[in-house]
Amino acid sequence: MRRFLVAGNWKMNTTKESGAQLAQALASEVPSENPAVEVLVCPPFPYLTTIGDIVTGSGVGYGAQNCYHEAPGAFTGETATEMLTDIGCRSVILGHSERRHVLKETDADINLKVKKALEAGLQVILCVGELQSERESDQTEAVLNTQMTGGLAGVDGAAFGQIVIAYEPVWAIGTGLTASPEQAEAAHLYLRNWLKDQYSAEIADATRILYGGSVKPDNAKELLSQENVDGALVGGASLKAELFIPIIQAAVELSAE
Ligand code: PGA
Repeated sequence: MRRFLVAGNWKMNTTKESGAQLAQALASEVPSENPAVEVLVCPPFPYLTTIGDIVTGSGVGYGAQNCYHEAPGAFTGETATEMLTDIGCRSVILGHSERRHVLKETDADINLKVKKALEAGLQVILCVGELQSERESDQTEAVLNTQMTGGLAGVDGAAFGQIVIAYEPVWAIGTGLTASPEQAEAAHLYLRNWLKDQYSAEIADATRILYGGSVKPDNAKELLSQENVDGALVGGASLKAELFIPIIQAAVELSAE
């Protein structure tokens, strides 16, 4: 059975102090021994070590929101995967819609980062998802196909132990609009079948596909109950312990069923 992953994407939010308080609250909630679900926080780069030190020894892991595809060197403003592993960071979010649409990252850019992060031994959370206009014009599956094909080009099946896919419909991110459980399930099923066709039934079955887009305590359980939803990538609601913890608990309860 696939183990739920509940990941918090803090985006460009928190201060050192507020992030530390949030991390402390989460670390005291998630046990270090055999936690039922995998929990991850992805703070902004300047706070990664502070947050990492706080959650180390708990059941909460920490990851980055981006990385660069080159080895350390003359790349002003970028962060190398070697630096992430150096500070004990184990995961990286790649291809987030804000990086695609605000920072104009292409599938080719994302693919370079995916390959570099995998080489570095990081867990990659590859985000894919359609715009509202693309959904309205029935392009959802075509967009997912393009983003999966582009993002995973040249990635060998052997790397899938390190890969998590996050389906994040862009129209549901930070908008309060959530995909209905049926819409989420349909997209997740498409992605799982994509993995089966492009890789293998075993890889499709073992790979976790997270849902992201306005996940909150009151919709988490219904979304996570869908057969092909294996966790959540949470933005806004991951910034408050009193919202993020109930989402983790929803996943814990469902894992016990
Ligand atoms: P949201 O963001 O939960 O605030 O919609 C999700 C994400 O961007 O990962």
